[in-house]
Amino acid sequence: GKNNMIEPSLLSSNLMNVGQDLRIIEKCGIERLHIDVMDGKFVPNLAFSPNFTAQLNKKTNLFLDCHLMTYRPEKWVDCFDEAGANLITVHVESTPHIYKVIQQVKDLHKKVGIALNPGTSLSSIKWLLSLVDQVLIMTVNPGFGGQNFITEMVNKILALKQLRQESGTDFQIEVDGGITSETIKPCMQAGADVFVAGSFIFNNTKIEEKIKQLQQIDNL
Ligand code: DX5
Ligand code: ZN
Repeated sequence: GKNNMIEPSLLSSNLMNVGQDLRIIEKCGIERLHIDVMDGKFVPNLAFSPNFTAQLNKKTNLFLDCHLMTYRPEKWVDCFDEAGANLITVHVESTPHIYKVIQQVKDLHKKVGIALNPGTSLSSIKWLLSLVDQVLIMTVNPGFGGQNFITEMVNKILALKQLRQESGTDFQIEVDGGITSETIKPCMQAGADVFVAGSFIFNNTKIEEKIKQLQQIDNL
């Protein structure tokens, strides 16, 4: 059927090893990398910069999915475009002009994603669905790795998949937060296509095994 994809999130990785870990990730056949960007305002944490993204881009051909958890994302889109982002994901809660930011990303000929916090309703993106390449359903409150998966979000994935069918659009559904070899299953069944995983992969020394564990479920 569809291509289910595992997208490692570097947020929980050991940054002292990131060069070596990239080689392991590539060897596993991973195609995409998740880069969390936090401004300390939209979420209570700070994370990766355009500079870090540009350095990654020099070291790997992996597809770079930049998840902007910042207010005024319009201010950061150009920076991450120049840094080599392949897909720029913007939170619908982070700007009053989400439609305009989507246009801004598309004008740069980059793929565009929209993200929803757990409490944000699908109705907020109804008029955007035909424009975007991906919709990211947050399955934790954004800001930190290692949190517990919010089970109720499985129904949101289901509802989004239904919306996709009804509207005849073909964006990918991505899930982010608390994804493990267990929680990935209901998400997959509900219709998610791309699975971000941070602490499950990186909070141990055998990241290759952990990736393969997720990929195995992927192939069921
Ligand atoms: C959380 C980030 C996630 C985070 C996921 O705000 O958006 O990408 O890295 O980490 P885990 O998989 O540990 O929940
Ligand atoms: Zn993320």
